[in-house]
Amino acid sequence: MNSPVMQGLNLNTPAFVKNANLIAWVADMAALCKPDSIYWCDGSEDEYNRLCQQLVDAGTFKKLDPIKRPNSFLACSDPSDVARVEDRTYICSEKKENAGPTNNWMAPAEMRATLQPLFDGCMKGRTMYVVPFSMGPLGSHISHIGIELTDSAYVAVNQRIMTRMGKAVYDVLGVDGEFVPCVHTVGAPLQAGEADVKWPCNKTKYIVHYPETREIWSYGSGYGGNALLGKKCFALRIASTMGRDEGWLAEHMLILGVTSPEGKKYHVAAAFPSACGKTNFAMLIPPAGFEGWKVTTIGDDIAWIKPHADGKMYAINPEAGYFGVAPGTNTLTNPNCMASLDKNVIFTNVALTDDGDVWWEGMGDAPAHCIDWQGKDWTPQIARETGAKAAHPNARFTVAAINNPALDSAWDDPAGVPIDAFIFGGRRSTTVPLVTEARNWMEGVYMAATMGSETTAAAAGQQGVVRRDPFAMLPFCGYNMSDYFQHWLDMEHKLEDTGHTLPKIFCVNWFRKGEDGKFVWPGYGENMRVLKWMIDRIEGQAQGTEHVFGISPTYAEINWTGLNFTAEQFKTVTSIDKAAWQKELELHSELFQQLAYHLPAELNATKTKIEQRLAA
Ligand code: OXD
Ligand code: MN
Repeated sequence: MNSPVMQGLNLNTPAFVKNANLIAWVADMAALCKPDSIYWCDGSEDEYNRLCQQLVDAGTFKKLDPIKRPNSFLACSDPSDVARVEDRTYICSEKKENAGPTNNWMAPAEMRATLQPLFDGCMKGRTMYVVPFSMGPLGSHISHIGIELTDSAYVAVNQRIMTRMGKAVYDVLGVDGEFVPCVHTVGAPLQAGEADVKWPCNKTKYIVHYPETREIWSYGSGYGGNALLGKKCFALRIASTMGRDEGWLAEHMLILGVTSPEGKKYHVAAAFPSACGKTNFAMLIPPAGFEGWKVTTIGDDIAWIKPHADGKMYAINPEAGYFGVAPGTNTLTNPNCMASLDKNVIFTNVALTDDGDVWWEGMGDAPAHCIDWQGKDWTPQIARETGAKAAHPNARFTVAAINNPALDSAWDDPAGVPIDAFIFGGRRSTTVPLVTEARNWMEGVYMAATMGSETTAAAAGQQGVVRRDPFAMLPFCGYNMSDYFQHWLDMEHKLEDTGHTLPKIFCVNWFRKGEDGKFVWPGYGENMRVLKWMIDRIEGQAQGTEHVFGISPTYAEINWTGLNFTAEQFKTVTSIDKAAWQKELELHSELFQQLAYHLPAELNATKTKIEQRLAA
């Protein structure tokens, strides 16, 4: 056993860890962060149970009723630590222009100098957990390994659900394999004898990425994407730069399988900004009129996609679990999701009912009384009088993919699944039609690049305003957004030159509102009708109708069996309002001005063509 002693601290390196770079890095980080002890996670169930019990003893976790919600826990965070902190998230590339205008930037040397005193001694009084994880099926040629050092047991247990975490990762890593080093601290060292709080964190927060050296450093938050570093930090920000350098794509996309009654299977990858019903789409149940059709989940949030020698693009879900938004989820809108939450769940910031279960707004009938996410009494009357929410709007569940009854049989296939279409969708009350197919790759990239969405609670900040969210990657692209557009454009030629079939590109909007301010399209399972039209297009079986922006279905091309949706309503969700589109294009111009550095000329040229069509 190799156990160097750092300043009186035994590294306790287990025999199954043989990677010299890893051991040296852990020693360096231990010397910097000065934890009281180091614990190397093995990913076993026994370890998970022990850490959960430890969190219960510390008051971070409440064990839920073992009959109602077996082996499940509720954690309630500090009210100041409830969402990703985009204004504290940095891309520290050597050159500012490589981070681009949509990312916060600081020179790496300056950021290292800033973080050094913060990390010095940041884990005093705490344990440093060494969390080995594989993003993607173990050993897949599309997968990559990360090691997260964290002083949060909450993070360690969440990572066991969200990633393939444990001993087997070290076998893949071997003696000289590469890993992305991820350091995380809640930034709350404990003095000798100082009692801990239930949710330690720090007012100061830094979520830092060094794309050139592929490192992640996170300080001050224990929540979600700030702390579970495999997700947004690695699988999107760092991986997007790896993809740019190596010729693949790391995308903010769910992946689903659609199987026809004849047994033909299609795969689509779909990008939506945070909290746009992505989990609902990933777990869609086909409605009446689609007997024999099956929709299955490969992933709910992130896709890594690589071209393959057989001419197709193959996608894996780098994650192994779902960190989904709880409020609004119920048995009517997402029965598969609710079934996934029956057992073995970590809930964060939902309400605790008097019978030891959980509740959130939109789950169903409100309980007469519960304890809200901030530990206060909550009743429907209090809610009426004060507007208090029982669950925080960004309350989450962490659950393993294997809990999902609609899990695709290929979800863990190291080869991935071949992608037939990309879908891009935002939350727009007006302007953008229900579904539009891009006439070609270029127009598809344009659609995705100019995507906008009305903001929600997944990120801290203002809600309900339209923000441009190119490819739903605005908070997640690890490099200059315009270079990212170029990478997508280059893909077309790279793929065509190597005999690939390009996936089709569609743009959707489930959220158009009528004059009464209500959503017109029923959404949820009914989105299958749109999905089926896309498949008809893939099969060359629907002609569609062409407009300024692309190709949309005619009313007759949609299967309406089992849904009463009139041609008039269909017009409301598909119509192109010229004046609104002229305004929309002005906003595209603003975006392009903001992204002018390295903006591919083809995007402005495409805009001009749309403008000409609009004027015609
Ligand atoms: C998420 C997000 O998936 O914010 O949590 O996009
Ligand atoms: Mn997401």
